Amino acid sequence: MSGRNVSGEQAVKLLVIDDDPKVPWILSERLPNQYEVISASDGYEGIQLASTEQPPLILLDIMMPGMSGLEVLERLRHAQTSSDIIMLSGHGDTENVVKSIQLGAAEFISKPFDPAEVEIHLRKVLESRALRDENAQLRESLKSRFETLIGDSVAMQRVKGILEEIADSDLTVLIRGESGTGKEVVARLLHAGSARAKEAFTKVNCAAIPRELLEAELFGYERGAFTGANKMKPGRFEAATKGTIFLDEIGEMPLELQSKLLQVLEQQEFVRVGGLQTIKVDVRIVCATNRDLEVAIAERQMRDDLYYRLNEITVTLPSLRERTEDIPLLVSHFIQKYNAAYSKSFAGLSAETMQKLVSYPWPGNVRQLENLVKQIVVRQDEAVIDEILRRPQPAVRTAGVPVNVPEPVAGTTEGNGYSLKDRVGAAVAREERNLIADVLRKTNWNRRKAADVLEISYRSLLYKIKEYGLSKSEL
Ligand SMILES: Nc1ncnc2c1ncn2[C@@H]1O[C@H](COP(=O)(O)OP(=O)(O)OP(=O)(O)O)[C@@H](O)[C@H]1O
Ligand SMILES: [Mg+2]
Repeated sequence: MSGRNVSGEQAVKLLVIDDDPKVPWILSERLPNQYEVISASDGYEGIQLASTEQPPLILLDIMMPGMSGLEVLERLRHAQTSSDIIMLSGHGDTENVVKSIQLGAAEFISKPFDPAEVEIHLRKVLESRALRDENAQLRESLKSRFETLIGDSVAMQRVKGILEEIADSDLTVLIRGESGTGKEVVARLLHAGSARAKEAFTKVNCAAIPRELLEAELFGYERGAFTGANKMKPGRFEAATKGTIFLDEIGEMPLELQSKLLQVLEQQEFVRVGGLQTIKVDVRIVCATNRDLEVAIAERQMRDDLYYRLNEITVTLPSLRERTEDIPLLVSHFIQKYNAAYSKSFAGLSAETMQKLVSYPWPGNVRQLENLVKQIVVRQDEAVIDEILRRPQPAVRTAGVPVNVPEPVAGTTEGNGYSLKDRVGAAVAREERNLIADVLRKTNWNRRKAADVLEISYRSLLYKIKEYGLSKSEL
């Protein structure tokens, strides 16, 4: 990110974007050599350099021919640049100063300026930047403490061994496992254990974004690419540059997008929607799915070349049923976590309750166990488990809507039974399952016809049938 100056210290890169060449010239002459000045004479070049050089500081002139400083600022913010941007404005240009602050500029300096004054501003911005980095690191370390992968069973030891080997590499990884087995935890650990740890971890849930929007979301679009595309917007791949992108529920990616993803995997490049220019990306890709991809291939919902490419390195997480010896460890981890979160001091479970937990089949895996322990801690009473474990547990979930989470218990802070999201999510899932079952019955299990009636694609119907565990004999 930064070069070294003549005295061998790390120099701080300062990108000056100004159509007046005197500005970068004066600054490179007069600023201490702690700063390495690079310059761009217009907004286009500025944006380009900001992305290739990643300078921590940018000095940006507001009044420029072509693209104005405000537009450059807006685009840089869209691209989620991590640079701090200081605006250069004419005297009395309050309107633009206000706008630039609204758009996220860190400071502004009036023209004409004294280089010594510029230096004071730069130092101030660098100091608050250092503080921000420190806080971010602290947050990350707190987060990773909670996100450790608990489990000593042979199956989990094997998983951890693989993770150690592959974390610090750029290898694409496919994480498989039932819902709630910790796929997202693993994806975050892979990022945290890599050289990219300080950069962004970007999660995209392929099942949560409508298929017609997914391409633009992932790859961005050019101005005029479709109605409403008033300006260029970079996609998640570009925003994730230098970091890790986590493509969750990859099995739900529409077929027509899969070839574009394959191109990113093989050539690290793509084209924005409506664009011609090939864009290079430097991003590590981690994918996850709880779907049976082999079935998806057989049903022609997944390209086999993509499957083979993704399958090169697969981490398969065991279900909780397959590693019941880890349950006591997980329970004490979650007791600690929720004692801390809710300022409680729940001591632990009785041997009898623990035995019940060990022999329960856990269709919702660790997520379900975690929710249960949370409720016990919050209510300070392990008797709630009898009530919860007795409830029928459909071993299914719709994409993104957990159905098998125990129903919220009255009196707890989080699961107070009134969480709109939980209640609506569960109700929608129930309604959806009933409706699909009904239509399948009426169409005599003709799935093409049923998909038409339901106005969803054949592919989504097959997926939902599987997710809800619907079968002909049951209906
Ligand atoms: N081995 C583990 N150790 C500690 N916590 C875990 C572990 N596995 C899962 N969890 C916790 O369980 C919950 C669910 O995990 P996660 O979201 O990673 O599951 P998932 O496999 O991505 O599920 P889904 O397929 O439903 O998205 C999270 O709160 C996570 O912190
Ligand atoms: Mg997940």
